[in-house]
Amino acid sequence: MIISITTLKGGTGKSTISQNLAVCFAEMGYKVAIVDTDLNSSSVHWSGLRPEEHKSVPAFGLTSADALRKNIKELSNSYEVIIIDGTPSINRLVSTILLLGDIVLIPIRPSGLDIWATEKFLDKYEQAKALKEEINAHFLLNMYDERMSFNRESKEVLDEMGIPTLKTTIKNRIAYPEATAMGMGVFEHGDPKAKAEMVELTKEVLALLESVTA
Ligand SMILES: Nc1ncnc2c1ncn2[C@@H]1O[C@H](COP(=O)(O)OP(=O)(O)OP(=O)(O)O)[C@@H](O)[C@H]1O
Ligand SMILES: [Mg+2]
Repeated sequence: MIISITTLKGGTGKSTISQNLAVCFAEMGYKVAIVDTDLNSSSVHWSGLRPEEHKSVPAFGLTSADALRKNIKELSNSYEVIIIDGTPSINRLVSTILLLGDIVLIPIRPSGLDIWATEKFLDKYEQAKALKEEINAHFLLNMYDERMSFNRESKEVLDEMGIPTLKTTIKNRIAYPEATAMGMGVFEHGDPKAKAEMVELTKEVLALLESVTA
């Protein structure tokens, strides 16, 4: 199974969500790897920081569309779950990431700027759809706070964009950067609320994957 995590905007939580999902899948007993497509290699660095006693989550850097296409097949033979941590650019790499995913997650922070970037992203998405009709894409609200009206309004704007939004939302929690800095996921570190929302996200993604791969 390949899970692609992509947007055109930087800093929306692609790497954080890739790493945390990977840890949850590893804890559930899946053999999992991250493919890091970003030149800043943050998931590769994160993987290097992982404490020895924790479940293994290797990360491989593949930063061009051709390298990704060529290597993903072999990686798929070795790992049950591959999470592609995307890169914020408008090049061919993003189209390849969109096309390779059995499911595509698009993390969005509920701010005006992110929503604007999402509109540009949709052009890319439509182009990819011309090549592969069934792109199983979902928005994922990150750093979401339901108590704030502009957060709820952002959700309504997304609802009109023709891509469904996952039921699970991820809140703004200090546990995320803290766990990242230690090469961990929130499943392994501290905050039970963060752990619970990540487990919920993992289950929702698994259910969606089961419905497409069945
Ligand atoms: N739910 C969250 N709560 C608190 N902090 C978060 C959350 N999600 C992400 N962050 C923080 O926001 C920053 C950006 O997140 P991250 O690096 O995951 O984004 P990205 O989309 O991978 O960025 P880039 O486009 O630069 O690769 C990081 O400092 C991360 O720790
Ligand atoms: Mg990143």
